[in-house]
Amino acid sequence: MAEKSFKYVIVGGGVAAGYAAREFAKQGLKPGELAIISKEAVAPYERPALSKAYLFPESPARLPGFHVCVGSGGERLLPEWYKEKGIELILRTEIVKADLAAKILISAAGETFKYQILIIATGSSVIRLTDFGVQGADAKNIFYLREIDDADKLIEAFKAKKNGKAVIVGGGYIGLELGAVLQMNNFDVSMVYPEPWCMPRLFTSEIAAFYEGYYKNKGIKIIKGTVAVGFTSDSNGEVKEVKLKDGRVLEADIVVVGVGGRPLTTLFKGQVEEEKGGIKTDASFKTSVTGVYAVGDVATFPLKLYNELRRVEHVDHARKSAEQAVKAVKASEEGKTVEEYDYLPFFYSRSFDLSWQFYGDNVGDTVLFGDNNPASPKPKFGTYWIKDGKVIGAFLEGGTPEENKAIAKVAKVQPPVENPDLLTKEGLSFAAKI
Ligand code: FDA
Ligand code: NAD
Repeated sequence: MAEKSFKYVIVGGGVAAGYAAREFAKQGLKPGELAIISKEAVAPYERPALSKAYLFPESPARLPGFHVCVGSGGERLLPEWYKEKGIELILRTEIVKADLAAKILISAAGETFKYQILIIATGSSVIRLTDFGVQGADAKNIFYLREIDDADKLIEAFKAKKNGKAVIVGGGYIGLELGAVLQMNNFDVSMVYPEPWCMPRLFTSEIAAFYEGYYKNKGIKIIKGTVAVGFTSDSNGEVKEVKLKDGRVLEADIVVVGVGGRPLTTLFKGQVEEEKGGIKTDASFKTSVTGVYAVGDVATFPLKLYNELRRVEHVDHARKSAEQAVKAVKASEEGKTVEEYDYLPFFYSRSFDLSWQFYGDNVGDTVLFGDNNPASPKPKFGTYWIKDGKVIGAFLEGGTPEENKAIAKVAKVQPPVENPDLLTKEGLSFAAKI
């Protein structure tokens, strides 16, 4: 079987891999030194597009339009770019075995890849309802969304089940973004999730009430506090009904499930230190194994601002951690070190005409400000999180770029607050002063 050898190998060909490749090129790379091995069939792209513009009924985004690094306003790295730089893009290749002691990766087809430095950028996979034995969950037209192939299957189903009924299972990021896109594609949408409000990992009940109200005004039915416990299908094996724990039954032509992700670390189990479900790294994304780095969704890294180890499943961190790791790789070759990673958590989402950003940490007391009436023609509202007398997190719906910058600064600077009630009245003007 074929054996190839590289100085640097990135396993995984998603967001982090693409940003790492750009950083390698920036820092200086000789042809043939770097390989990216990906099970996907396409060059690294901006994954967030898959649950948004890729599924729009009008003028949908398509590759090559959203290859990295356009999502952060950078150069678009087309497949030719990798060729020009002498970076080997090894696509449609799944690594099924990793031996970190021998510095060897083996693909499903049996090829062997040797490396001196390895960057693990395998991202996450979806949690499936079949993983916890939900009856009938293997029926046709029950979809998950992680990779471009998943999105293409969904688009085929949009055509086959035109104007049909869609049930979304899960009220997190995928649930909210897909609920919107399915409604835009003319589906009759119901959303089901177990918690008392959507996105409980981040949203307060007040923030969630706005989005739930907005979605309801769009005709989306929201069923909270229960879960899907089974599915029935027709004689073709296609899903027909969703059975809920509370006894209700929903008709469905298609079902989209978004019940969370799981970092893809299994290849390295027992070979590298893990923490909080991810691969433990230092502030340069070095793992416990010399010459092995981990970035993006799989990395559990020191979040300096909060003096705590965290794992972050968002694109901004995937980009920045990849750049940090490559800088550290290059610096260590010259016997130098890099500055510690000093990350300010940044999450965002967009659906319909809505767009929110969040910076910092969502712990402590909260203060809501602005117009959060879902029926307003131009709603704009936000929330500050206050802990130990300081603002440590800020959320804003409908902000301008300047306003978003201002709330980011608040989360970074952590200004003291004497009177939280005043903050409600001050709203964005508080952020503008920082
Ligand atoms: P990523 O998942 O991007 O890449 C991992 C790559 O590794 C994939 O190409 C995979 O095929 C490959 N791979 C895995 N195992 C392998 C193996 N054994 N062999 C070979 N290849 C392997 N975040 C945000 O902040 N805002 C947003 O709007 C969105 N929107 C969004 C939409 C959708 C649909 C998803 C699924 C996710 C988001 N996210 C997001 C999250 C964000 O996309 C995510 O955090 C980053 O893509 C993580 O980047 P990574 O490079 O770590 O993994
Ligand atoms: P999530 O963790 O955001 O949400 C999962 C949701 O599923 C939660 O509301 C949870 O309560 C619910 N749930 C759990 N078990 C359930 C069950 N049995 N039945 C019904 N609901 C159940 O995960 P996700 O939305 O699946 O997203 C997957 C990954 O993609 C995450 O890493 C996420 O960060 C990423 N993503 C991010 C964005 C963004 O940042 N804008 C957009 C899309 C996806």
